[in-house]
Amino acid sequence: MEIIVAKDYADLSRRACRIIASDIKKKPDLVLGLATGSTPLGTYQELVRLYREEGLDFSRVVTFNLDEYCGLSKDNPQSYHYYMFENFFKHVNIKPENIHIPDGTAVDVESHCRKYDEEIARHGGIDLQLLGIGHNGHIGFNEPGDELLTVTHVTELTPDTIKANSRFFNSMDEVPKKAITMGLGTIMQAKKIVLLASGKSKAGIMAELLDENAVSTKNPASFLLLHKDVTVIIDEEAAELLKK
Ligand code: F6R
Repeated sequence: MEIIVAKDYADLSRRACRIIASDIKKKPDLVLGLATGSTPLGTYQELVRLYREEGLDFSRVVTFNLDEYCGLSKDNPQSYHYYMFENFFKHVNIKPENIHIPDGTAVDVESHCRKYDEEIARHGGIDLQLLGIGHNGHIGFNEPGDELLTVTHVTELTPDTIKANSRFFNSMDEVPKKAITMGLGTIMQAKKIVLLASGKSKAGIMAELLDENAVSTKNPASFLLLHKDVTVIIDEEAAELLKK
């Protein structure tokens, strides 16, 4: 695991963007796993800037998002579909047919999840997976618990996550209680993983992750310690409780 301490959020975003851009240049048909939330917003802005100013080419890039809320349609402004198009996809030359995001309105959700994993496999797996981390250690929406599922599945969000994500909604009641998420197995099969953590509120979980050297379903991100190619980009605020 490589740990890069960035000066601040802007520096973290530029560094994450640089890794993604360099991999796209090496492999123009890169299969890119993407996250939503606050943390990767700056990375998406930087990628859009590179597209505009340097012609970074997304025309052959294939993307798979980690997760989507159950019950929210693609045009719902709180959905991750909407987020991805507003913050990234509509500003670059990615082909709509190369974009994959779980469908929160799928009727046969089990079959939808199975097909999502099959589609990832059909593309040869994820080359580079971008991740954020929840305060409770969740990655995607793989929440802490007694067991973690390996494949794409429907999951119940924990009260912690519902509370954390309520900042994007008018009230806590509006936050969906379930989501579709890639499983830990799908994430761990990515050839390379870049985990981003920014701000003081992530300092506790990052210290737990990076200082304890232990794997537990109580901290889903801890499984990343077993992956052979993970880069953690953490800003100084999120790194302030690290002992190492
Ligand atoms: C979102 C996702 C989540 C977030 C995590 C951190 O697609 O997979 O695991 O990465 O909840 O969210 P932020 O970045 O808003 O702190």
